[in-house]
Amino acid sequence: MNNQEPSRNLAMELVRVTEAAALSAARFMGRDDRKAGDQAAVDGMRLVLNSIEMNGIIVIGEGEKDEAPMLYNGEMLGSGQPPDVDIAVDPIDGTRPLAEGRLNSIATVSVAPRGTMFDPGPFVYMDKIAVGPAAKGAIHVDWSVEDNLNAIAKATGKRIQDLVVVMLDRPRHNELKAEVRRCGARIRMIDDGDVAGALMTAWPDAGIDVLMGIGGTPEGVLAACALRAMGGEIQGKLYARNDDELRRGQEMGYDFEKVLTMDDLVSSEDVFFAATGITDGELLDGVKYFPNGARTHSLVVRGMTGTVRQVIATHSLDKLEKISPLDY
Ligand code: FBP
Repeated sequence: MNNQEPSRNLAMELVRVTEAAALSAARFMGRDDRKAGDQAAVDGMRLVLNSIEMNGIIVIGEGEKDEAPMLYNGEMLGSGQPPDVDIAVDPIDGTRPLAEGRLNSIATVSVAPRGTMFDPGPFVYMDKIAVGPAAKGAIHVDWSVEDNLNAIAKATGKRIQDLVVVMLDRPRHNELKAEVRRCGARIRMIDDGDVAGALMTAWPDAGIDVLMGIGGTPEGVLAACALRAMGGEIQGKLYARNDDELRRGQEMGYDFEKVLTMDDLVSSEDVFFAATGITDGELLDGVKYFPNGARTHSLVVRGMTGTVRQVIATHSLDKLEKISPLDY
């Protein structure tokens, strides 16, 4: 053991970012207004991100500047002082569940040293496989479903029929679903939110062994940041929706056949991740309001040390509203 002083854990500061996003966005639960919920989360997140001592650039954001006035890819955030970092945000993973008042909507953010996060460009989908620590190193995104399930069963000491595969409920997964069933494993379908889906594999109480299927690329990078710290693994491959997308990708130098390992998705161990529940889910409780206050439930993760914290915070909305222009 050396006697170095403990270093700064940026994730402890990032949790205020996701708390602000969740507190602002949760007001829109079930109000059928995806845009307003997203805007509230973006505003809350940006305000707190800008107060952090760092020189950050958004690598995974809300899109290009013209379509996203704030938290756009390339936007600089923070005080401008070192450290130089990449930032990935998903102010709401699960805008639809929030708007419809359903489960598993979370606010997420991650920070890693400058130049270490994968930039997916405009390519929105990725074929993914993610597992928790017990099956780390046992999977491959190019293997068949059966080979992966066999390998996970062996690594975890479970029988295939005891394994649970989480996947997004989408028609594009009909074949995957049939193949998992043929192999005898069980399925947990989620309507949205495959960052939470990936994290469930590394969350002992969630009872999920593996995430499979095609979901968002930004969500893949965020999940990689968290799983890297939580001891799990994710692999992916960019997925083109049509020939035109494939051609554009090739012109821009993207290889849709390349296996994106965790190192490709985020190449540094020095990664920080935070998530706060907006609506209730397996992973995190949603925001609960009470007279003049609210409670949030967050996950705070640091790659360097592998520390995973759960933070339950009580916020005095009375006091916050006096010092902040935001309604949280
Ligand atoms: P947003 O809430 O950011 O729209 O994402 C929700 C989500 O379910 C992600 O978790 C997932 O990666 C992606 O959408 C899947 O995309 P699609 O809904 O197009 O299948």
